[in-house]
Amino acid sequence: MPTLTLPARALGAIALSMALPLTAAPADPAAGQAKAAACAACHGPVGVSANPAFPSLAGLGERYLAKQLADYKSGARQNPIMAGQVAALNEQDFANLAAFYAAQQAAPKPSETASPEGRALYMAGRPQDGIPACAACHGPDGHGNAPAGYPALRGQVGAYLEASLKGYRAGTRANDANNVMRAAAKGLTDADITALTAHIATFR
Ligand code: HEC
Ligand code: HEC
Repeated sequence: MPTLTLPARALGAIALSMALPLTAAPADPAAGQAKAAACAACHGPVGVSANPAFPSLAGLGERYLAKQLADYKSGARQNPIMAGQVAALNEQDFANLAAFYAAQQAAPKPSETASPEGRALYMAGRPQDGIPACAACHGPDGHGNAPAGYPALRGQVGAYLEASLKGYRAGTRANDANNVMRAAAKGLTDADITALTAHIATFR
C-alpha cells in the first residue's frame, strides 16, 4: 500500500476512495468472523459491546465499517488502541470483517427516558446554530443509511456516542468526508450532546 509513505493529513481523501472499490476479492464474512476472534475481548463476539468504553459494531453498515478500519490504519482516524489492532491487517481483511459485523444484529437496549430536547434537535436540527437534522442522514430511528456510509446509531454505547460527538466538535475525530460531522457537531453544547445521546438511547 503506497499510502503508508504519505503524511497522514493528506490521506483522508485517498483512504476514503480506497476503502471499498479496491477490494481484490468479494468480501468473505466467514473469513471476517475468524479474524474477529481477536476483536471479541473488546467488541463482543458478535460486535455487541458489553463495555461502555468500546463501541458496538453489529449492524453498523459494511461501507462505514470498512472505511473506519482503513482510516485507523492510515491515521485519518486516530486512536492508539485501534491503530495497533489494524496494523497487521489489509484491505481484504477490512472488507471481510466489515461484512461479518454488518450482518450481525444490533442489540438496542432501549431506554424509556424520553428527552424532548434531544428528540427535537435530532429531528429538526437548530438552523440558527448551523446544526442540521441528524435524522436526515441517520434516519428517524437511527438505522443509518448503509449504502451511503451513514452509520446506524441505535444500539450504540452511550459513552462512546458522547465521546464521538465531542471528538467531531473538537476536530480530534476528523475522518468524516467533506467535514460533514465536524460541521454538524460544531454548534452543539454539552447539554445538547447529553440530550441527543439520551434520545438515541430510546431507539429500537
Ligand atoms: C483492546 C480493545 C480493542 C480491541 C481488541 C479492538 N478494538 Fe476496535 N475499538 C476499540 C476502541 C476503544 C474503539 C473506539 C476508538 C475511537 O474512539 O476512535 C474502537 C473502535 C472500533 C471501530 C469504530 C467503531 C465506530 O462506531 O466507528 C471499529 C470498526 C473497530 N473498533 C473494529 C475492530 C476490529 C475489527 C477489531 C479486531 C481486529 C478491533 N476493533 C479490536 C477497542 C478495541
Ligand atoms: C449530511 C449527513 C449527516 C448529518 C446531517 C449528520 N450526520 Fe452523523 N455521520 C454522518 C456520516 C457520513 C458519518 C460517518 C463519517 C465517516 O465516514 O467517518 C457520521 C457519523 C456519526 C457518528 C459516529 C458514529 C460511530 O459509530 O462512531 C455519530 C455519533 C453521529 N454521526 C451523530 C450525528 C448527530 C447526533 C447528528 C445531528 C446533530 C448527525 N450525526 C448529523 C452523516 C451525517
